[in-house]
Amino acid sequence: MNNFTYDIKTKVYFGKGQISHLGEETALYGKKALLVYGGGSIKKNGLYEEAMKEFKNHQIEVVELSGVEPNPRIETVRKGVELCRKHNIDVIVAIGGGSTIDCAKVISGSVSYDKDPWDIVLDASKVTSCLPILTVLTLAATGSEMDAVAVISDMSKNEKWGCGHPGFRPVVSILDPTYTFSVSKYQTACGTADIMSHIMESYFTNTEGFMQDRIAEGLLRTCIAYGLRAVKQPDDYEARANLMWTGSWAINDLLKLGKGCPWSVHPMEHELSAFYDITHGAGLAILTPYWMEYVLDETSVDKFVDFARNVWQVSPHLEDEYAIAKEGIKRLRDFFVAMGLPTTLHEVGINEEHFDIMAEKASKKLQGGYRNLTKEDVINIYKKAL
Ligand code: NZQ
Ligand code: ZN
Repeated sequence: MNNFTYDIKTKVYFGKGQISHLGEETALYGKKALLVYGGGSIKKNGLYEEAMKEFKNHQIEVVELSGVEPNPRIETVRKGVELCRKHNIDVIVAIGGGSTIDCAKVISGSVSYDKDPWDIVLDASKVTSCLPILTVLTLAATGSEMDAVAVISDMSKNEKWGCGHPGFRPVVSILDPTYTFSVSKYQTACGTADIMSHIMESYFTNTEGFMQDRIAEGLLRTCIAYGLRAVKQPDDYEARANLMWTGSWAINDLLKLGKGCPWSVHPMEHELSAFYDITHGAGLAILTPYWMEYVLDETSVDKFVDFARNVWQVSPHLEDEYAIAKEGIKRLRDFFVAMGLPTTLHEVGINEEHFDIMAEKASKKLQGGYRNLTKEDVINIYKKAL
């Protein structure tokens, strides 16, 4: 296990009715808040009204930035920065999924930066200070509510980049599973695939981390047990609650600390979203099993056997370790199919046209992952996924 520093500052209010802490917590950071939200789901499910009541009860003045896109755009970040400067904002409250929260993060780090926020996306070390961020999560997926990462797109250049800064980590996150009852079946499935991918990106590394890996297996089993339940029964509280908390723990550093290494499937997926604006979790569900088949060899087979046995309870009586490993990968693909997720790029309207440039960009972010993947490797994986 490598050395690490554990410093996760996010205060989490988990469970029904925890919105009652929003006003008092926001007030601790100031009296002028920028409220950031997406395309309107929070107005349909009543959350907007509840939040506004909280702000009113604590005399918090609110300026709104609405319409944050799935795969949030740099243009919306720029608008948010302008609003913060114009209104002297003290604190940012993001209510929504990962896109809304990520947009809020880059706004928070760009207000005190006098050049373009896209610079921050490309190099977050340029951040000198951040406005505090509080979140109310409405979709279990990215873990943005408890991590220090943001992912922003500039579709005019087909660019989508992740960036991280300690100041991006929310100071408070309110996680009420009932707010996720209204998430569509498809987004629920995509969110579950994203959570699983975050766990697997840290699980399939070359650094030993016995403790982290056993927790990872438990979290994966939680996704398997509750993902399908939430798709079938959207208001199943236990299913939503388990997915929500697993989503946070998948990426809040616990699994990564001590065994961190660059991720493999995410950089390849981000290129799909950058060129085709597809839902992140759907792209991961397509690519992950193909990536697994591609990197399965004598150096990785033991880990895939662990995955098959400990996550999917594959029978140890299969003839050889490769058969066990392949059965684990098959079970993962079958699970995604059962959740209603696509398994090929064609299904989401992607063909070979941009493979070369997408692989070129992805391979730059893929330095020394589980197995070093070159541009040619990435093209091969995309082709297999067609
Ligand atoms: O915009 P609204 O109207 O809110 O609708 C959203 C959106 O259309 C809807 N939704 C969210 N909560 C809902 C709801 N609909 C009904 N009821 C609710 N309670 O769901 C749609 C998708 O929302 P979005 O925020 O885009 O989804 P997600 O949370 O999956 O975020 C995806 C973005 O996060 C990035 C992805 O690349 C993508 O850009 N990621 C961020 C990470 C991070 N910060 O650490 C890591 C991830 O790996 C990922 O890359
Ligand atoms: Zn992800």
